[in-house]
Amino acid sequence: MNTRDTLSVTNNGTLQIGGVNVKDLTSLYGTPLYVYDKSYIKNICEIFTESLNKYYGFGKIFYASKAFSCKEIYRIIKDKGLGADVVSTGEIFTALSSGFNAENMCFHGNNKSKVDLEFAVKNGVGYIVIDAISEIEDIDFICKGLNTRQKVLLRVNPGVEAHTHHYIQTAKPDSKFGFSIETGDADIAANKLVNTENLDFCGLHCHIGSQIFEKTSFEIAVDKMTDYYKKVCESFGIKLSVLNLGGGFGIYYTDQDPKFRYEDYADYIKSICEKLNECVEKKGINKPFLILEPGRSIVGEAGITLYTVGRIKKISGLKNYLSIDGGMFENPRFALYQAKYTVVAAEKANEKPNTVYTIAGKCCESGDIIAENVNLPEMKEGEILAVMSTGAYNYSMASNYNRNFIPPVVMVENGKSYLCVKKQDYNDIVRNDL
Ligand code: LLP
Repeated sequence: MNTRDTLSVTNNGTLQIGGVNVKDLTSLYGTPLYVYDKSYIKNICEIFTESLNKYYGFGKIFYASKAFSCKEIYRIIKDKGLGADVVSTGEIFTALSSGFNAENMCFHGNNKSKVDLEFAVKNGVGYIVIDAISEIEDIDFICKGLNTRQKVLLRVNPGVEAHTHHYIQTAKPDSKFGFSIETGDADIAANKLVNTENLDFCGLHCHIGSQIFEKTSFEIAVDKMTDYYKKVCESFGIKLSVLNLGGGFGIYYTDQDPKFRYEDYADYIKSICEKLNECVEKKGINKPFLILEPGRSIVGEAGITLYTVGRIKKISGLKNYLSIDGGMFENPRFALYQAKYTVVAAEKANEKPNTVYTIAGKCCESGDIIAENVNLPEMKEGEILAVMSTGAYNYSMASNYNRNFIPPVVMVENGKSYLCVKKQDYNDIVRNDL
C-alpha cells in the first residue's frame, strides 16, 4: 500500500482515508463504494501546474476526464485551474452542467460524428483534435454554417514504443488513433488543414499510451513531435502555437510499481518540460503553448473501492475464492487488461496475512475477477475489503452488467465525507426499458 498523510492504517488496523474511517463510510453509504480522497486530487493538480509553470512557464494541464467523469470532478479541477480533455458529447455535457467553461476543453476521438462536432462547435469547445480526414471537411462545413471559426489540433502518431499493455498503447504506426508521421499520412492531413477556410490550425497532439513509467518514452515523443512541429511550420509556411503531448503517467498499483509521492509525479512534468526547452532552443522553433493531459495520475491513487466480503469458497488444494459484492461491472480492469491491484483487509490491516485468496466478483462469468493470489489474514463474511488505486478507469468504465447497480461515489476530506454520485436503484435499471 502506498500510504500518505491522507491514507493510513490506524493502530487498531482500520484503514483511514481523508481522515475518515472506512467502517464509518460503509455504515453511511453501504458497499460497494467508490471513495475519493479529495485532498490528494487537489494536491496532484497543484503540483502538476506548479511544475509546468516552474520548468516551462507557458502551458496548461488538461485533466483527461475519461479516467473519472462526474460533475464534482469537473468542479474540483476547475477550481484548481485545469482544463479538461473530453472524448464524447456525454463528457462535454457533464462538464458544462457542472459550470465548466467550454473554452477550456479539448475534444478528442477517432470517430466524432457530425452531430458530435456540431455540439462541440456550438458550445464553444476550445480545441477539437482532428483524427480523420473527413472530419476536417465536416468541421469546416459546420463553422461556415454557424459563421464561426474553430481552433483545431492535429493528432499525429510519432511511433514511440511505450512499455504498457497493448490495449492501452496508442502510438504504434498501426494504431487506430492519429495520423502516422512515418507513413506520410500526417502530411496529407496537415496539408488539408492548411487549405481549409474556417479552421485555425493551432498545433499538434500526440498521446503515446497509458500507465507508462519510463520518462525516456515521453522525451523521445517530445523530440519527434518538435521535429514534426518544425517541419509543418516550415513546409507550409505557417506558425503553429500549441503542442499537446497527451497523458499516460504511470501510477502505483502494487509493489511491482514505483511508490510515488506527489513530488515524484511532478518529475514526469519536469522531464518533459526540460526536454521541450532543449528542443525549442536547439531546433530554433517558436516556443509552443504546452498542454499535458494526465488522467490516471490525477485520480488513480486518490480512489479506493470498499466491498463487503461475501461467500468464501475453498476448493481443496486448489484455490480460495473470496467473493465480494462488486465485480467486473464496477471494475472491469482485471477482465480487460489483467490489471493488478493491492487488496487490503480494511478492518484488520495490521494482522499477518496467512491465506491466499482469489477475489471474485458477483457476475455470472468466470473471468469476473478483481485480483488473484492475494495474501490476506483469514477473512470472514461481512468484513470490509478495500481495493486500492481504483480512482481511474473504474467508475468511468462501470456498467450495469447482470443488471447490477453502479455504486455511489463519495468524496472524503479532512475527516468529512459527502456523496457526489448517488447509488443507482431499480428505477435506474429499467429507466429506458419500454
Ligand atoms: N489523452 C488522450 C488523448 C488519451 O487517449 C488518454 C487516455 C489520456 C490523455 C489520459 O491518459 P492517462 O494519463 O490516464 O494514462 N481504460 C484504460 C486506459 C485507457 C486510456 C485511454 N486514453 C485503463 O483502464 O487502463
